[in-house]
Amino acid sequence: ERRDLLNAIAQQVSVALHNARLYESLETEKKRISELEEEAQKKLARDLHDGPIQTIAAITMRVNFARRLIERDPKEAAEELKRVEDMSRQTTREIRHMLFTIRPLILERSGLIAALYQLADKENEIHHQNVLIETDSELPHELDLGKQGAFFYIAEEAVKNARKHAESAHIWVRLRREDDRFILEVEDDGVGFNVGGVDASYEQRGSLGFVNMRERADLVDGILHIESAEGEGTQITLSVLLEPSQITQNVAEHS
Ligand SMILES: Nc1ncnc2c1ncn2[C@@H]1O[C@H](COP(=O)(O)OP(=O)(O)OP(=O)(O)O)[C@@H](O)[C@H]1O
Ligand SMILES: [Mg+2]
Repeated sequence: ERRDLLNAIAQQVSVALHNARLYESLETEKKRISELEEEAQKKLARDLHDGPIQTIAAITMRVNFARRLIERDPKEAAEELKRVEDMSRQTTREIRHMLFTIRPLILERSGLIAALYQLADKENEIHHQNVLIETDSELPHELDLGKQGAFFYIAEEAVKNARKHAESAHIWVRLRREDDRFILEVEDDGVGFNVGGVDASYEQRGSLGFVNMRERADLVDGILHIESAEGEGTQITLSVLLEPSQITQNVAEHS
């Protein structure tokens, strides 16, 4: 009897130890994630400081110089302004590139599918919006992080648009492979809109959603398709050719 009791105690202790170990590894994991996040923030701050902030300071000085030159030597002032124009164009590209490399940590660590599920959870929790993820396939190994980033960004903006503008009951996010292409589809059963009409008035709208979506699609040589009609819901499709290429090359080509 005594042995039974000892056995029972031993078992309890072993369970407790196991739990303690689990708890500890969870805590370590949490700490690691927040360290990684902090690291990423520091890097961004450093990159901003070394890049765009320096260039903008230089632009300010040159504009000031050009302003004082303008009466004395208009030709030289014009040349100076041309240089400033080039510099600020380059800075825009730098900043855009930096923005495009910011990716949610979960994407970095667990990949596109996990990130989409997290997006759906958040939409549900915060906005009570019903987002359904439909995917049967594993992620193709050719889909590098850069491409996954483009997929995630476009899915996120499309879901956000559907929530903000569509008044839909459902938003579906689908991923599938078709031969050598990987395809994202975001569909809602909401009010829809006139795509041509929105495109035509885009300059005055001041909105960035579709512009950014198209830019991201371009960066990975993807094809973005927006289909909608009033009363018919909306469907956004991104299709990307799967080949062993690197986003970094694409980014370099575009900048
Ligand atoms: N799923 C949708 N259902 C209905 N209308 C939509 C949908 N998606 C986009 N639209 C319409 O297209 C317009 C342009 O979308 P876009 O994402 O470019 O801008 P935005 O969402 O208004 O602003 P931003 O994205 O810059 O916050 C929207 O203002 C809206 O009228
Ligand atoms: Mg938008």
